[in-house]
Amino acid sequence: MGNDTLTIIDNRTGKRYEIPIFYGTYPRYGAAIRAADLRQIRVAEDDFGLLSYDPGFLNTASCKSAITFIDGERGILRYRGYPIEELAEQSTYLETAYLILHGELPTRAQLDSWVQNILAHTLVHENLKRLMEGFHYDAHPMGVLIGAVGALSTLYPDAKEIFDPEVRQRHIWRLIAQMPTLAALAYRHSRGLPYVLPDRELSYTGNFLAMLFKTTERHYTPHPVLERALDVLFILHADHEQNCSANAVRSIGSSHPDPYSAIAGGIAALYGPLHGGANEAVLRMLTRIGSKDKVPAFIADVKAGKTRLMGFGHRVYKHYDPRARIIKRLAYEVFGVTGTNPLLDVALELERIALEDDYFLSRQLFPNVDFYSGIIYQAMGFPVDMFPVLFAVARTAGWLAQWEEMLLDGEQRIARPRQVYTGADLRPYVPLAQRG
Ligand code: ACO
Repeated sequence: MGNDTLTIIDNRTGKRYEIPIFYGTYPRYGAAIRAADLRQIRVAEDDFGLLSYDPGFLNTASCKSAITFIDGERGILRYRGYPIEELAEQSTYLETAYLILHGELPTRAQLDSWVQNILAHTLVHENLKRLMEGFHYDAHPMGVLIGAVGALSTLYPDAKEIFDPEVRQRHIWRLIAQMPTLAALAYRHSRGLPYVLPDRELSYTGNFLAMLFKTTERHYTPHPVLERALDVLFILHADHEQNCSANAVRSIGSSHPDPYSAIAGGIAALYGPLHGGANEAVLRMLTRIGSKDKVPAFIADVKAGKTRLMGFGHRVYKHYDPRARIIKRLAYEVFGVTGTNPLLDVALELERIALEDDYFLSRQLFPNVDFYSGIIYQAMGFPVDMFPVLFAVARTAGWLAQWEEMLLDGEQRIARPRQVYTGADLRPYVPLAQRG
């Protein structure tokens, strides 16, 4: 591309500036200028220089990243270049986690060693069980998970050696391995059930199901369709480039704490209903609506601004979220085993009406990953408040990849945005006795 510069004329001074434009893999999606280049644009010598103002990062690239590619206009999602549809069809969650973290699909030997290293780290320190007991039985499991992952940082002080690749690798295995164990502990605690030890004879998701749902049987055998469905859901949730929680992990990680502290922050960011908490919010919304005939009245409330259609809309996707399409298909496979979820009819009707309505079409609001995932999770027996926890378990691989990429990126610095100050000008302190 010739002439890869941007010419800016500052009408305050009449001065002209030429700013370089650079590109990522695809010039159409990744053309950018460096915001710091705007600093030369000033009215007087002692001016700070021009800032770019972007609340909510609507148009700011915070990093260069080689992990995940999204084309929101066309509904495309790829991890390391591989289409999400092919990974969901042919890969496993742990293989996808390897891909996301290492950049390439593993060989057989690399995969075996990766899986063994993760399954060998699934046991959690006994102190974690005592920590769980400190939580009330109805504590939200996301709050419990934030606390438990934060507590892991106190158990592994060497995790602070973040620039030692071997130490980093060990704690990456450990975090991917222990998230399901902690999630299961939180669930069993809420039910007053004894904790189930991890079983390394089972797959990653099979073991997770066993730690959650095993009761008196000697060996828990997960249903293969449900085990695979959960694995596919985990693949779909494994990464999603610079979303709110990945940004939180990168931002916290940029001050160089251990990865447990950064991931605990990621879980906290995920918890909110506008992000990973949306799957829980969708289920509560569908339950509140109750039946198909109530859908038109609910849509009218959404259009009147009284409520939001949870599970719809996305900052990046202005087209059907490709993950939602896969999840919708998966739902029927799961229902073949569990029986259908009556809320599916409500969801289908919501989608049908919304996709014909100008309010949603004009704002490019389509179902996102959270719209159908909760219906599947509920059919599989997960309580509603565990839904965002499942998201957090799966997203751990992506968070760790984003964290590691940030650490190894020589251009990254401590994340410290600027502001446009709009407060009071300098004024002298007024003693209390003189204030009216
Ligand atoms: N229901 C109704 N209206 C909506 C919705 C929705 N779900 N989402 C956006 N809108 C409307 C807004 O009111 C706004 O309308 P206006 O222009 O008339 O004011 C317009 O669409 C643009 O919405 P914003 O909130 O500015 O879009 P933004 O990119 O900031 O937010 C978000 C994206 C947070 C995902 C939003 O669509 C939303 O709240 N959706 C529901 C929650 C949800 O499902 N979150 C999960 C996202 S996927 C994930 O994080 C895993």
